[in-house]
Amino acid sequence: FPVENIRNFSIIAHVDHGKSTLADRLLELTGTIDKTKNNKQVLDKLQVERERGITVKAQTASLFHNYEGKQYLLNLIDTPGHVDFSYEVSRSLAACQGVLLVVDANEGIQAQTVANFFLAFEAQLSVIPVINKIDLKNADPERVENQIEKVFDIPSDECIKISAKLGTNVESVLQAVIERIPPPKVHRKNPLRALVFDSTFDHYRGVVANVALFDGVVSKGDKIVSAHTQKTYEVNEVGVLNPNEQPTHKLYAGQVGYLIAGMKDVTEAQIGDTLHLHKQPVEPLPGFKSAKPMVFAGIYPVDQSEYNNLKSAIEKLTLNDSSVTIHRDSSLALGAGWRLGFLGLLHMEVFNQRLEQEYNASVILTTPTVPYKAVLSSSKLIKEYREKEITIINPAQFPDKSKVTEYLEPVVLGTIITPDEYTGKIMMLCQARRAVQKNMMFIDQNRVMLKYLFPLNEIVVDFYDSLKSLSSGYASFDYEDAGYQTAELVKMDILLNGNTVEELVTVVHKDKAHSIGKAMCERLKDCLPRQLFEIAIQASIGSKIIARETVKAYRKNVLAKCVSLGIFTSIQNKAFIILEKTVKSGSARKIIEMSALRIIWCGC
Ligand code: GTP
Repeated sequence: FPVENIRNFSIIAHVDHGKSTLADRLLELTGTIDKTKNNKQVLDKLQVERERGITVKAQTASLFHNYEGKQYLLNLIDTPGHVDFSYEVSRSLAACQGVLLVVDANEGIQAQTVANFFLAFEAQLSVIPVINKIDLKNADPERVENQIEKVFDIPSDECIKISAKLGTNVESVLQAVIERIPPPKVHRKNPLRALVFDSTFDHYRGVVANVALFDGVVSKGDKIVSAHTQKTYEVNEVGVLNPNEQPTHKLYAGQVGYLIAGMKDVTEAQIGDTLHLHKQPVEPLPGFKSAKPMVFAGIYPVDQSEYNNLKSAIEKLTLNDSSVTIHRDSSLALGAGWRLGFLGLLHMEVFNQRLEQEYNASVILTTPTVPYKAVLSSSKLIKEYREKEITIINPAQFPDKSKVTEYLEPVVLGTIITPDEYTGKIMMLCQARRAVQKNMMFIDQNRVMLKYLFPLNEIVVDFYDSLKSLSSGYASFDYEDAGYQTAELVKMDILLNGNTVEELVTVVHKDKAHSIGKAMCERLKDCLPRQLFEIAIQASIGSKIIARETVKAYRKNVLAKCVSLGIFTSIQNKAFIILEKTVKSGSARKIIEMSALRIIWCGC
């Protein structure tokens, strides 16, 4: 296929603005999939994607299209829209020369539209604005055109107005892809240089690496080398994604496709790696920033006898998702488990849901926490950790103030777009979350874009829900990593009848310790079953008790025979009992202590 007839492009947008629907229409128009079938989000293959209606894993499809007497090969890379998966967006963009920036004609520019636009802009890609859903009653494409001109400096006459649902004007999107996006700059005569931009794991064939060829050719039987690991492999299969895998004899520079070469897990086909031919080394392509976990949580089998099954499920799932980090961990009450790092809370929920749905595993997740840092002053600790600045991903290991010079917390630069009427309330919410305002701009007559620097721990659990509820669902939010800042942090213990519950240890800002401690004690009081004796619930910082609640004892010995053990877990402020068993009360006091240890989190 001549290079000048190839276009590599991505569709980027805020969540639900219609990327996947547009992708379906493009696949139909080019005859890649049958029009008669009821095609809905064909590229969303995972069960969670279909259930939640979101794209988690970027998918690729090659389309053929005839235009003005020439045949074109259009490689379309569908990308996720949610903030947690922006890492998938940026790596997809590295394989493209242009993007379709889809904006909903009713909702207009939203926070992720802005974030995704800047990813494309920084990668110097051609941006084609597409205003979608013009069929909606409240659609106002002219207003959206003006927003696009104001915020992105793209002339409004460059916008294409479509309805992906009805197929209106989708043809002109294909035309713009051909006319406005340049063909890839590649050299087929040079030795092979291929970028791995995604990889998946297949139980039978091993790793399937999605590659974009920048130079040369690759065929079945070639010996290739990973520039990252220097390991050599023999290519067993190459092909294009149509959108299902379709083997071909060769892949040429300019093409996007897949390659199978006996790699055993995705760490052997690292995203951003360059592949070259054996004995023909090349300058590696610039990789991408590696995925940085923002949220950590402990994960344990509900029953320790399930440990090995859960281990194998986690290993299999991470074969497909190299952005999850894994450390082994153990807890007094929950036994052996792991501490996993995720890109965000949605990523964590999706991972958990996939464990349950695809591997039938039931797990206990502990409170999500962010990676804090401490600069150590104690020479003993420095020796133990072998470094002065440590990252703490488990609050139970938070070092005491007497042993550190300073604590640091991760911060993010957040973008909020909202109808003006909610601005006041949103500003108050941000202030309550210790955020510092950086910018404020009207993107049209009644919509405002706010930029705030947030401590990550203030937004990780329920910020998004609060923002949505106080703006009746209209405000949108996205954030990017902004490094670390000094913070006055303290470790807060929760004690039950005087014993610390390791699983409930949290790191909080000094100014918030009282309110959080009080709220946690109150929640625990509501959750703990009453017993034959009194239970004291306390929150403490060091030896100082900052809050206390009491669960009163039953007066009469009516239920003496049974004690209920409950395991609680929570995501986004909801406490669920996920395991409850009734045991004979031999020694009631001992059992309640055990029971207390089994209460993981009651959410604050
Ligand atoms: P994520 O994969 O979650 O990022 O979403 P997406 O941007 O891919 O959106 P998707 O294509 O799943 O569409 C979201 C919703 O909008 C679906 O219910 C679509 O049916 C609907 N939708 C998409 N395009 C149009 C359109 O042109 N008009 C109308 N009325 N609805 C549309």
